[in-house]
Amino acid sequence: MRFTAIKLQRFRNYESLAIEPHPGITVLYGPNGSGKTNLLEAMHLLSLGRSHRTAQDREMVAAGAQSSIIQGRTQRTDGAHDIEIRLHPHEKPHKKVLLYGKPAQRIGDLMGHATVVMFSPEDIRIVRDGPAARRRFVDMQLSQIRPAYLQALKTYMTVLESRNALLKQNKLFGVSDFLTQLETWDDQLARASVPLVRARRWFLSELSRNASAQYAAISENPNEPFELRYVGPLAQAEDVYQEMLSGLNRSRREDMQRMYTTFGPHRDDVALMLFSHDLRAFGSQGQLRTAVLSMKLGEIQLITDEMGEPPTLLLDDVFSELDLKRRNALLKSTEGIQTLLSCTDRADAAGAKADQFLRVCQRADGTAELQEG
Ligand SMILES: Nc1ncnc2c1ncn2[C@@H]1O[C@H](COP(=O)(O)OP(=O)(O)O)[C@@H](O)[C@H]1O
Ligand SMILES: [Mg+2]
Repeated sequence: MRFTAIKLQRFRNYESLAIEPHPGITVLYGPNGSGKTNLLEAMHLLSLGRSHRTAQDREMVAAGAQSSIIQGRTQRTDGAHDIEIRLHPHEKPHKKVLLYGKPAQRIGDLMGHATVVMFSPEDIRIVRDGPAARRRFVDMQLSQIRPAYLQALKTYMTVLESRNALLKQNKLFGVSDFLTQLETWDDQLARASVPLVRARRWFLSELSRNASAQYAAISENPNEPFELRYVGPLAQAEDVYQEMLSGLNRSRREDMQRMYTTFGPHRDDVALMLFSHDLRAFGSQGQLRTAVLSMKLGEIQLITDEMGEPPTLLLDDVFSELDLKRRNALLKSTEGIQTLLSCTDRADAAGAKADQFLRVCQRADGTAELQEG
């Protein structure tokens, strides 16, 4: 798939922008702080409904403005798709999605109209940060590939919140039919965990296979076997529903004390294994970077296989930091795929076989503008 048009109004430092990205490789270049990441962020927002770098949508609305409009048109094998997102921090709802000009029922309906894989300096957080960063990575990618997953995740989180609220209410004030209510939530939570666990298991085994092949191709030592492993109380469960119920039963006493659900896939993690050891604990900086790059490259393959067409690639500031071998692996993955690559100097993209150069400049008032060439 590819983006054929992008329009921004009052988005970050873009007062107004309309571009028609090239189907091949576009190099976005300009000084730090000029607006390169902002444009890639808008494309991420159009694909996944959220920014890759902030959880606060209001940050994306241009300073001093009340609202922002982000529009994209994509071309997929099944035809053209029109996506529009409106951000209104001072109104409810704060975010509206329109598909083909009509309001969407849910934010999640946006999934599947545009698909991107973003490479950014922040990717290293997948290995450096705690389990939540890895769950976010898995959840976002799965949602892109299987829109129904996002709905399943939302259902699980809603039931989890209700169960936690009941635990809290009971400990603080006492609830007369507490056990009956708890059992109802346990049953619902166990049901809701089934699609999550199954999808994560599938995703991680597929991604592991792809990432492992990518790792072998770019690491200094081709004999280093890299793999991803799904870590969680239900990762190996045969009957997910039953094992979730038993787990909730076992942890009931502790949950009542802590007023929080301690068992379940909301605490899942992903282990990055090298020679069957956790890379996060003993890997070198270079190995960690290679692992993250392999996961991202593996994801391109997985999306292409599953969705029948490749995603658009957004390479934010990552190109110049890579050595030749990694750079070439990345370039190989961009062949025939729409790619937007950002860097500070035009020369940083040497070797990238660019089809188009866009210079990002800041006007005197701080707003951004794009010039071809
Ligand atoms: N909500 C906003 N309103 C106006 N300007 C913003 C907003 N958020 C960020 N900016 C500006 O955008 C610029 C950063 O853009 P960015 O795309 O991250 O730069 P880079 O080209 O280095 O990737 C900064 O000048 C910052 O002040
Ligand atoms: Mg940037």
